[in-house]
Amino acid sequence: MAEKIFLSPPHMGGNELKYIQEVFDSNYIAPLGAFVDRFEKDICHFTGAASAAALSSATAAIHLALRLSEVKAGDKVLASTLTFIGSVAPILYQGAKPVFVDSDESWNADPGLVEEAIEKERPKAFVLTHLYGQSAKIDRIAEICKAYDVALIEDAAESLGATFKEKHTGTFGDFGAYSFNGNKIITTSGGGMLVSDDKTAISHAKKLATQAREPALWYEHEELGYNYRMSNVLAAIGVGQMEVLPSHIEKKREIFSWYEELLGDIEEIEFMPEIEHSRGNRWLTTLTFACTNPAKVMATLQERNIESRPVWKPMHLQPLFKEALCYGKDVSEDLFARGICLPSGTAMSKEDVEQVASMVRSALC
Ligand SMILES: Cc1ncc(COP(=O)(O)O)c(C=O)c1O
Repeated sequence: MAEKIFLSPPHMGGNELKYIQEVFDSNYIAPLGAFVDRFEKDICHFTGAASAAALSSATAAIHLALRLSEVKAGDKVLASTLTFIGSVAPILYQGAKPVFVDSDESWNADPGLVEEAIEKERPKAFVLTHLYGQSAKIDRIAEICKAYDVALIEDAAESLGATFKEKHTGTFGDFGAYSFNGNKIITTSGGGMLVSDDKTAISHAKKLATQAREPALWYEHEELGYNYRMSNVLAAIGVGQMEVLPSHIEKKREIFSWYEELLGDIEEIEFMPEIEHSRGNRWLTTLTFACTNPAKVMATLQERNIESRPVWKPMHLQPLFKEALCYGKDVSEDLFARGICLPSGTAMSKEDVEQVASMVRSALC
């Protein structure tokens, strides 16, 4: 069988092992150390955020952002419905109530529905996803959140490097969360970063992420904490990956342009758009079919050992959230029914993309 083409596999730059060796040489094999500090600085330098905390996952970053926004049991929290569970599960960790909001033609949250939901529900915070590496209408959404005094937490897990008016996604709101999970644009095998311009909040996040230990000789605890810090070993991988992040973004965008060139003539195919003033990282090339069932395309790709994926199943359709309110629902449900994510790994050659595209073409109705 042909070698498997994965959706978005890890792609090391070359220096990661050298940096891991440095960690081993220093014996700082701990959730503290020079590479954790360096990785945080690198992220700040790259995104323009004032401060950052390296964590075990983006899910942990979103959880800490909710804690720091003082979201408590019974509070309402607005969230994009078209997203991954890691964006929303932390709302439940806090005992809060998610209220979902549908997408618009951009696939990301509809600002009109966001305003309506905020006006009616008065949520404490909004967890906004920048889906598949494409910026949401973040300037409008940030304005709305500010006007209603709602904490804005950007789930930029998929969108590291994506910008709106040249400002990085993840840096518009009160907090931003990036993911370094195995399939992200850069990876540390697992990991995340919480960013904010509020340095005091980030220093509190670091305390909460290390079991909330108070500064005493013994282990003293005044508030509830977590074991969420990133290991120095994984941060060493992160520092190596930051060196190749700009080239990964360019390569993801090139892969998208190859798919566009190879499939753009097919009338029933529509690619996820890039909104005006934005520049996405095109983490995954995603598209919809007007009449072909995406399951048929996925099965055809699977026969050739090619991995693909449906668009995220909206949160309001998940049994876990059957009680939750959702403002609008048609757009995300339609994208889920007709959408597919195609392989977009940064090590893909044009021949790989041609192979995927020709299999897609062969499966059309
Ligand atoms: C939109 C979105 N939010 C949150 C997460 C959670 O990230 P992590 O796996 O680092 O917890 C992911 C990916 O894994 C994601 O795609």
